[in-house]
Amino acid sequence: MLSVTDLQKTYPSGDEALKGVSLDVTGNETVAVIGPSGAGKSTFIRCINRLTEPTGGTVELDGLEITGLSGKELRNARRDMGMIFQEYNLIERLTVMENVLSGRLGYVSTWNAFRRKFDGDDIERAYEVLERVGLEGHENNRADELSGGQRQRVGIARAILQRPKILLVDEPTSSLDPETSRAVMDLLVEIADEDDIPVLINIHEVDLAEEYSDQIVGLRDGEKVFEGTPEDLDETARGQIYRGEEIPDESAVKSPSDDGSSASDSATQEGAMRRG
Ligand SMILES: Nc1ncnc2c1ncn2[C@@H]1O[C@H](COP(=O)(O)OP(=O)(O)OP(=O)(O)O)[C@@H](O)[C@H]1O
Ligand SMILES: [Mg+2]
Repeated sequence: MLSVTDLQKTYPSGDEALKGVSLDVTGNETVAVIGPSGAGKSTFIRCINRLTEPTGGTVELDGLEITGLSGKELRNARRDMGMIFQEYNLIERLTVMENVLSGRLGYVSTWNAFRRKFDGDDIERAYEVLERVGLEGHENNRADELSGGQRQRVGIARAILQRPKILLVDEPTSSLDPETSRAVMDLLVEIADEDDIPVLINIHEVDLAEEYSDQIVGLRDGEKVFEGTPEDLDETARGQIYRGEEIPDESAVKSPSDDGSSASDSATQEGAMRRG
C-alpha cells in the first residue's frame, strides 16, 4: 500500500507545485490523476519515488517511509516502484533486451552503470517479461527502430522486470495514437490485475481515465480538488478540476480521507487536455 501524506513541493523558482496532497493507493486498483497542465501531476509522481525531492510531507510504501531514506536504501526502495515515463526514457542505441535489463539497475543514467553483468535469471526473466508485453521476437531490435507503442511496451517491460510493488506512470499515452493508447492502458490494467499491484497513472485524456481507472484524483494548482470513482466525475467535478469553479455543495467532493482538500479559488486556467 502506498500512503502519501501532505506532500509538498516548492521548486527553487518559488513555484508551489504541490500544496499538501494526501492519497492512499491500495490493492490492485488503478488510480488516475487528472488535471490541467501545470496542476502538479508529474511533480506528484516524481516526488513519490523522489526523482524530485519533496519539500514536505511523507510517502510510505508498505510501511517503509520512502521520504526518510538515502543512498542504497533509497535505491532499493525505488526498485519497488516501477516508473513508466511519457517519453519512454529508453537508451536509443541499445537493444530492447538491454533496455529491459537496465530495469534491474534501478534508474540508469550512465552508460557505465549499464556495463555491469546480469545473471542468467535476469535474462530469462527479461524474455518472459518481453513476451508478456507482446515484444517477443524484438529482443535484439535497437530501441530507435521501434514504433511509439512498442517503445512504451519496452518501458513497461523494464518497469515490471524488477517486480515492483506499485507502478508509477506519467502520461504513458500522450505520444500515442488513440488505438495504441488503449492497447497500452489495457496492458497496464492487466498487469495490475495479474501481479496484484496498484497503478498510479497521470493521464490527460479524461475519457481514458474514466474507462480504465477505479479511482480518479483531480489535481488543480497543486491541490487535490477531487477524489472519487469515474461515476462521481460529473460536470461539477470537471468544472472544479479544469476551470477552478467553486464547489456548490460540500458533498460534491468525494474525499474519503477527509484530509482538507479544497477547491482552488484561483483564476480560471484553461484545462489543457492534450490529445495524443
Ligand atoms: N523543474 C522545475 N522547476 C521549477 N518549476 C517546475 C519544475 N517542474 C515543474 N515546475 C512547475 O510546477 C508546476 C507543476 O508542474 P508539473 O509538471 O508537475 O505539472 P503537470 O500537471 O504534470 O503538467 P503537464 O500536464 O503539462 O505535464 C508548474 O507550475 C510547473 O511550471
Ligand atoms: Mg506532467
